[in-house]
Amino acid sequence: MKKIIIANFKMNPSSKKKASVLFKAFDIKTKRTVILCPPFPFLEKGKNYFLGAQNCSCQESGAHTGQVSASMLKSVGCRYVLIGHSERRAFFYESNKRINFKIKICLKNKLKPILCIGEKLGESKEEVLKTQLKEGLKGIKEKIIIAYEPVWAIGTGKNCTKENLLESYRYIKKLVPQSLVLYGGSVNSENSEELLSVVDGLLVGGASLDKKEFLKIIK
Ligand code: PGA
Repeated sequence: MKKIIIANFKMNPSSKKKASVLFKAFDIKTKRTVILCPPFPFLEKGKNYFLGAQNCSCQESGAHTGQVSASMLKSVGCRYVLIGHSERRAFFYESNKRINFKIKICLKNKLKPILCIGEKLGESKEEVLKTQLKEGLKGIKEKIIIAYEPVWAIGTGKNCTKENLLESYRYIKKLVPQSLVLYGGSVNSENSEELLSVVDGLLVGGASLDKKEFLKIIK
């Protein structure tokens, strides 16, 4: 199976023009499955990558000012949606219950949700992962892609060690045996190969905005 590399541009870059430069650079044939997740206004289809969104509404339609629905994402060519990223959990107060709704809405609209989970520094990894998976996947039988992103590793330059990651990978696989498990948190071109050797794919934030860096990771 091809390993998956996801780019999470977050609220970057600052213009459509700059986003197009990245899309063009990353639209290459590679041995990886590449998924690009830009901000909503920059969603742009390509030949060699899949399109993903960073979030979607937990409502199907209606009076929800500022929200973007799963069916809208589907209609502009999205195949994947990141759900429950730690920044959304922290800054937008997303609960596991809401995350569960979003996953169900994605599935209903034939989008593939990618459930992001991870513990903060000082929290019990096992407890947090178990709760986030149990509540986030409640009532869901489909195979969901899981992105393990320890909050302490996101944007800090302190990635998970290979040994620590292997332990988390095995633990998550034990809880959801049928799922693919990806890793995210300070991934760059220097550590990507080693981290990729223990997981099914990577979720890349900061390094996906650097053309040279991300090309090295996906090649
Ligand atoms: P980072 O972000 O690669 O900049 O640490 C990862 C993420 O938040 O998905």
